Amino acid sequence: MFTWGVSTSAYQVEGYPLQDGACPSNWHEFTHRPGTVMDGTNGDIACDHFHRYPEDIKAIADMGLTGYRFSIAWTRVFPEPGKVNQKGLDFYERLLDALLGAGIQPWATIFHLEEPLWIARAGGMRNRTTVDHLVDFGTTLMRRFGDRLKNWITINEPTIYAWSCFAIGEFPPGRKNDLRGMLHSIHHMLLAHGWLCQAFPSIVSGGMIGLAHHFLWVSPADLLREKDRRAAAFMDAAANSMVLDPLFRGRYPEPVTRRLTRFLPRGFEKDLVEIQNPGTYVGINYYTRNRYRYSLLTPFLHAAEHVDPRAPRSGQWEIYPRGIYRALLRLRDEYGNPPCVITENGFPAREVAGRDPLDDPERIAYLSDHVSLLGKAIQEGVDCRGFFVWSLLDNFEWNWGLQMRNGLLRTDYPTLRREWKKSAHWYRDLAKRNWLEVERFPPES
Ligand code: NOJ
Repeated sequence: MFTWGVSTSAYQVEGYPLQDGACPSNWHEFTHRPGTVMDGTNGDIACDHFHRYPEDIKAIADMGLTGYRFSIAWTRVFPEPGKVNQKGLDFYERLLDALLGAGIQPWATIFHLEEPLWIARAGGMRNRTTVDHLVDFGTTLMRRFGDRLKNWITINEPTIYAWSCFAIGEFPPGRKNDLRGMLHSIHHMLLAHGWLCQAFPSIVSGGMIGLAHHFLWVSPADLLREKDRRAAAFMDAAANSMVLDPLFRGRYPEPVTRRLTRFLPRGFEKDLVEIQNPGTYVGINYYTRNRYRYSLLTPFLHAAEHVDPRAPRSGQWEIYPRGIYRALLRLRDEYGNPPCVITENGFPAREVAGRDPLDDPERIAYLSDHVSLLGKAIQEGVDCRGFFVWSLLDNFEWNWGLQMRNGLLRTDYPTLRREWKKSAHWYRDLAKRNWLEVERFPPES
């Protein structure tokens, strides 16, 4: 049965990040530093999902959805190295009970951008020792919940973590142009993924495990310019093959190793044998495409993003639905058509004064175009098992703060009331009919 679901992550929705003995995270510390989040907000309360999860689960059930993807806060479970905090685990126990009681399959992410401050202070994902801690965290969760929790995501968006934390500095620790930090952290996250996938079958029977890759569709700024085409090919290797090639082929893509080997950890080749383990499916987070032009002045990458002012945009990115279809076909053709799940797809927007915040036709159009193209890909043989909207409700959108809204439900932050947007009604109808609209996109002849 195809799963229709919604996604969230701990820091973005839960609030009360220090409750019940949890330690602060890299994000808690970062958001309390002035100037880091565009609207000055933080995840101290967020949506208060920590207390209001019963109401949120009821909304998921009322939408007729069968999947809820959430993440488990590492800070609640391991506030100190090596010491499990039972109270932290108990929260997720309650969440699981409520989900299963409502007939909703839980999908849990082990690492979703947020790490305990004690990990961050030791270098975060740049430090190889973090791999041991992360695997310890993940296997602790599998042992505690694996009898009932069958669907797992090891790591969410390794490339986005690496890029945002170490290349552009928008995520903690806010470093820029640190190629070593980027490549070390990607490598370590992939290694943790490999080890978690290895441990999984002996702890959890009959489950699914994979990582959620941010599939960025990449195009040259000018298709007719050879230099732009080469810049785009390099960026595509760095954004996509950098994760998929090691998982499926046991090697990093050649364009990246040719230019950047010196920034990878010494002896990285030895780990590739263990990284070559996609798990049982691939999660795809798809939102947008980027275009690149050749740029002599950008060190090492020699590529710069080019924003086409004519292209349609959401609150953050270009709207390019065809990218989801092309990404899925690439998975089919270049990586042996593994089972896959769209672990995220969604439409960010700010509220506009004078406009009804519950009326969101742009979000409906965005989601409906992407679902249609997913339908076309499935019709053409892609083995996709589920689709999760980001997000169930408006939440803390990292460096954008609370202003950037992705929810099917509107969060009224002063009162924390949830209200259904039109897109929530639309999604309920879609899930009810279990409908993948394909007619508008007939198979290519
Ligand atoms: C990807 C991330 O996994 C999630 O945390 C984020 O909020 C959404 N994209 C929207 O930007």
